[in-house]
Amino acid sequence: MKKLFTFPNDFKIREDEVKNSLNGEITVQKFSYGYDMANRTSIINHLIHKYKLKDYLEIGTRDGRNFDNIIARNKIGVDPKPRNYFNNIIIKTSDNFFITNNIKFDLIFIDGLHLENQVDKDLSNSLNFLKKDGFVIMHDCNPPTEFHQREIYEVNGKFPAWNGTVWRSYVKNRMYNKNLNMSCVDSDWGVGVIQVGNQKIFKSEKNLNYAFLKNNRRKLLNLISVKDFIKKFN
Ligand SMILES: C[S@@+](CC[C@H](N)C(=O)[O-])C[C@H]1O[C@@H](n2cnc3c(N)ncnc32)[C@H](O)[C@@H]1O
Repeated sequence: MKKLFTFPNDFKIREDEVKNSLNGEITVQKFSYGYDMANRTSIINHLIHKYKLKDYLEIGTRDGRNFDNIIARNKIGVDPKPRNYFNNIIIKTSDNFFITNNIKFDLIFIDGLHLENQVDKDLSNSLNFLKKDGFVIMHDCNPPTEFHQREIYEVNGKFPAWNGTVWRSYVKNRMYNKNLNMSCVDSDWGVGVIQVGNQKIFKSEKNLNYAFLKNNRRKLLNLISVKDFIKKFN
């Protein structure tokens, strides 16, 4: 791990996490389980600790840097091509996993293929397999530039930071699904926090292009700070 900064109480920030600060807060916060750096992992662990959540599913685990640090008792990961193999990683696409799954989860983290159509399916399947009062957490909901939300990950043989079109799936639900409660924490590329509930939808006839997101970001995403997230789920 490349060490860039050390906070007084020895919190370390990796280089890639500093890059993520392009979009959202990289701060140390007091979460339900103690002080930690704000990112997807601490946001998920805050909810797990606060509500004593046990059953966790992660869609898209890659090297396990998030999965491995999640504090839930029962964890399952699903990834067709993980870079690290843990005991409880199932080598499947999320679609294939859900076809035969019969487990209900307390919290499902969607971070698989970053394309709108796939995220639509992942969200719909996740809601079907969510326990009452459970959470769906969705990564990459707040791309900072048009480039970050391109459809194709690879650019000239390289793989620069990519949020894909996840935001469009999130935003469609902000616009048309009043039976959810949705907010997006302004940290680590935008961490969507979704529960079954009732929300005031964002009404608009506009096309879902990047300019629409840019011009309406705060209200469209229901963007909240990390501190507001902690207050909301306290
Ligand atoms: C952004 S990485 C996940 C990062 C990880 N969740 C974390 O927080 O560190 C995306 C992962 O999704 C996986 N993936 C791609 N298509 C998928 C699919 N259809 N179902 C599940 N996972 C998929 C990729 O293999 C890749 O490992």
